[in-house]
Amino acid sequence: MDLNPPRGTRDFFPDEMRLRTWLFDHFRAVARQFGFEEYDAPVLESQELFVRKAGEEITGQLYNFEDKGGRAVALRPEMTPSLARMILKKGGSLALPAKWFSLPQCWRYERMTRGRKREHYQWNLDIFGVPGVAAEAELLAAITTFFRRVGLGAADIGIKVSSRKVLQGVLDSVGVPDESFAAVAVLVDKLEKVPRDAIAGDMAALGLDESQVDRIIEALSLRDLDGLEALLGADSPALVELRELFALAASYGFADWLVFDASVVRGLAYYTGVVFEAFDRGATLRAVCGGGRYDRLLSTFGGKDIPACGFGFGDVVILELLKDTGRLPELIPDLDYLVFPLRPEMRGPAIEVATKLRARGQSVDLVLEDKKTKWAFKQAERSGARELVFVGPDEWEAGRVKVKNLASGEQFELSLKEL
Ligand code: HAM
Repeated sequence: MDLNPPRGTRDFFPDEMRLRTWLFDHFRAVARQFGFEEYDAPVLESQELFVRKAGEEITGQLYNFEDKGGRAVALRPEMTPSLARMILKKGGSLALPAKWFSLPQCWRYERMTRGRKREHYQWNLDIFGVPGVAAEAELLAAITTFFRRVGLGAADIGIKVSSRKVLQGVLDSVGVPDESFAAVAVLVDKLEKVPRDAIAGDMAALGLDESQVDRIIEALSLRDLDGLEALLGADSPALVELRELFALAASYGFADWLVFDASVVRGLAYYTGVVFEAFDRGATLRAVCGGGRYDRLLSTFGGKDIPACGFGFGDVVILELLKDTGRLPELIPDLDYLVFPLRPEMRGPAIEVATKLRARGQSVDLVLEDKKTKWAFKQAERSGARELVFVGPDEWEAGRVKVKNLASGEQFELSLKEL
């Protein structure tokens, strides 16, 4: 039998799990610092939740199948559609704004590269009910706070920011109809990655001719807001919201992380406004996280739209980056006590000691077989125990146990109460 998990998926042995828990603890702590509430949804959803016709990569990567009841289901490739479903289900009873976060495992049948797997965990923060870029600024503040917590600064990471309204402005000016917007956005996102010839046919099918594509590419090459102002005008919605976002970033104190980059469009169909992606300044890895505003997703599910924005932040690239920059924490197992019965007949008393310590909230391992003292020392070291508790007949008789502090080597006798 092949002992490897399916291609592109991971086992989490205790060593890896410690790291994952460390990362998730930071994700959760930052979400709470910013007042987000945690939610969850099933990893298995109706396939129709993910069917969008804009030609997105994510749709082609769906892990979908028919269940035993003949229903078309899929493993979620992302959390946003499930979140939208839940928000719609709450309907009018939902107090707005709603700030929710989650840590879902997501599945995509992806071509594997460094930092991309077929399953990943994705920290999601979303805000529903705030139409202005104050919401995006709050999301970006949470992202930069997280980076700082794990030891990364603006010299390591940048966040490219743009707005779909840049593309909207260009498309309006060249006469592309509104209903093609999402599909054009998805194609334009591909322009960055695949040769133009390869998607020329798709562009033609959406009604874009050569000169229109040239205009789009020219606009996407902009890297400063003054250039954008020259192209779209000072009152254009894209420029107004981006200038405001940069001003808010300065108030928060993370403006040095942001770079305007019109080429960021993002490959998901539902974005309508500000979009952003964090990247490593060393430029060796794929996007660290990405998100944006999606004010019209709910109506595509037949509901009433609520302004929304959010991001997804995967667990794979960030760990690669921390490894590359020498910032992975050294995590060792930790344990308060290892309790060791010195003789077989001391098992009962040792259980009593362990039970009392556990009831007081200590983490306690108990030696479960008859072992030599030497073995107990080794085991204490392996499990990272702070103290080794020897339960021997003479001390027990006197209501005491012997304790060795493994860091200092100090050894002392304590009554159970003192322990
Ligand atoms: P996304 O850009 O498809 O956006 O994914 C967000 C992040 O998830 C990526 O930047 C990356 O960190 C991680 N990620 C995606 N695919 C993989 C993979 N195959 N392996 C490892 N990591 C991956 C979304 O999913 C949107 N739903 C985010 C969002 C939330 N927008 C608004 N709210």
